[in-house]
Amino acid sequence: MLKTHSCGELRVENVGATVSLAGWVNRRRDMGGIIFIDLRDRDGKVQVVVDSGRSQTAFDRADQIRGEYVIQVKGEARRRPQGQENPNLPTGDIEVAADEVIVLNPAQTPPFLIDRDENVDESLRLKYRYLDLRRERMQRNLTIRHKAVKYIRDFLDERGFLEIETPILFKSTPEGARDYLVPSRVHPGKFYALPQSPQQLKQLLMVAGYERYFQIARCFRDEDLRADRQPEFTQLDLEMSFVERDDVLDLTEELVIGMAKTASLVPLTTEKFPQLSYREAMERFGTDRPDLRFGLELTDISDLVADSAFRVFAENVAAGRPVKAICVPGCGGYSRKQMGELESMAKAEGGKGLAWLAIHPETEQIRGPIVKFFTVEQLIGITERMEAKPGDLILISSDRRSVVYSVLSGLRAEMAKRLGLADKQELSFCWVIDFPLFEEGLEDGHFAPSHHMFTMPKREHIPLLDSDPGAVLSEQYDLVCNGFEVAGGSIRIHERPLQRQIMELIGFTWEAAEEQFGHMLEAFEYGAPPHGGIAPGIDRLVALMAGEPNIREVMAFPKTAQATDLMSDSPSTVAEHQLAELHIQLAVKEPASK
Ligand code: AMO
Ligand code: AMP
Repeated sequence: MLKTHSCGELRVENVGATVSLAGWVNRRRDMGGIIFIDLRDRDGKVQVVVDSGRSQTAFDRADQIRGEYVIQVKGEARRRPQGQENPNLPTGDIEVAADEVIVLNPAQTPPFLIDRDENVDESLRLKYRYLDLRRERMQRNLTIRHKAVKYIRDFLDERGFLEIETPILFKSTPEGARDYLVPSRVHPGKFYALPQSPQQLKQLLMVAGYERYFQIARCFRDEDLRADRQPEFTQLDLEMSFVERDDVLDLTEELVIGMAKTASLVPLTTEKFPQLSYREAMERFGTDRPDLRFGLELTDISDLVADSAFRVFAENVAAGRPVKAICVPGCGGYSRKQMGELESMAKAEGGKGLAWLAIHPETEQIRGPIVKFFTVEQLIGITERMEAKPGDLILISSDRRSVVYSVLSGLRAEMAKRLGLADKQELSFCWVIDFPLFEEGLEDGHFAPSHHMFTMPKREHIPLLDSDPGAVLSEQYDLVCNGFEVAGGSIRIHERPLQRQIMELIGFTWEAAEEQFGHMLEAFEYGAPPHGGIAPGIDRLVALMAGEPNIREVMAFPKTAQATDLMSDSPSTVAEHQLAELHIQLAVKEPASK
């Protein structure tokens, strides 16, 4: 080893020791005759003093080094002179007096400063990711990630789970995104699909009798990317046999709480995660991933405006469409222009408009374009129902239920952001349960699964599959934190006829079902136990626990929002002969430039 100690390790107890350190030059200051070097490694930083009076050779070497040079320093740990201690540095009471400085490798000037957490252009960070990863913030994040994953492994090991790897080259396992395909050289014209999750394989492991499985699993999904979505990401994938919903929820809850206590920088505020039905989540928050750190809940005022002179509301209520509102504290003074912005947001979410009532902070007079359509009693009824105070703003949407939800959940999030209502120092988890089995019916008469097609309908709703599939609720559950879906799972179907029935409702012909999922259907005939599981998204959980707004910040080598790797310039073209071997002819001659 080139080092006897790490840079972050030395303390007063080490004073007098002869040490050898190695790392990167974080900063170098020349004080004339004495050079100070902040030497950095993964463990921390320490001050090295190179005094020409102690060693002229060491001083001459130190004179040539620059930031990010890799050096080795041999010398003596000593107390810093009184008054020179740095209380912000764990090693701040000591310094190392250099006897020898050895340059292990010089470095070019990096394209951005490593030792300061300033805003660097993200594409530059991603192009030089290996430099970006040297920064304290990234080291901290990857350490949190390591601790979280280690906690998971230990926790599940103690509870009898086996970690089992499943193939990456597999067959399509749809989770609602597009597949990444891999052409086969040996089988011309045939493709593997990279798994969107190990869903099928973990269920087959249950059929195989493994009872408790988990995997830190890589998943691949070709979908539009956002702050919380990457084309490849990591799940804690787990599955259990002979369980009911609450067994999975209890285990996951205990696991996540333990993980947060072990690894999270952001405190956990809920010791027991509240459970909301899908319906309740939609009614109160307009979304199935509600952020519970603040109020601004959706309130139904349909009954109060049903008889009003505002035709839009009266007609909608008569047609069974709701009128719902949120009350935003202190925004009653919004200008026409500001209201115009909010209305545009409502329209972007599919709304036809945005009605509003603003209560004057002093006169308590109510203003807004629809005020004229309401009687005083109706206005009082609305403000009372909304618990609106002087100075508040009531935002009202009426439309198809799903549109009202989108409009108001969007505005709820926007207004909370503007008002800083969501505490950044809070992790607020909840379960969402009792999802519908299917999303709204498709135009061709088929149904899209709300989770995936292996999800068990609620037993008592199975008869409804024939008469009213849209009304069937399922054994799906999602774990939500601060407005993000952090885990999804369900109790599964383990009987062939039911699985076939669901596949048909989704639109699979008999042949297509057999072709794509014959192995699953067949397995169900060889003694498949009842089973269920869940998959927490590790990137999302760790990002929340690190207080990071984007999952890229907790992945060592993430991709851009355009699914590219700027460091290796991937995806890239390949040689003609490689394509020929794979029996592929390109329809594009010139690949699109990035
Ligand atoms: P689901 O599709 O809900 O369920 O995914 C589970 C969790 O994975 C995370 N996640 C993602 N994270 C980053 N980037 C993405 N593109 C991305 N997509 C999903 C989310 C999500 O909650 N097989 C089922 C699980 C099961 O039923 O057991 C599944 O994959 O945090
Ligand atoms: P109008 O009478 O069409 O000018 O609309 C009066 C107000 O009601 C405007 O502020 C519109 O944005 C709003 N509005 C129109 N349609 C809706 C709707 N479906 N839900 C909520 N507000 C609406």
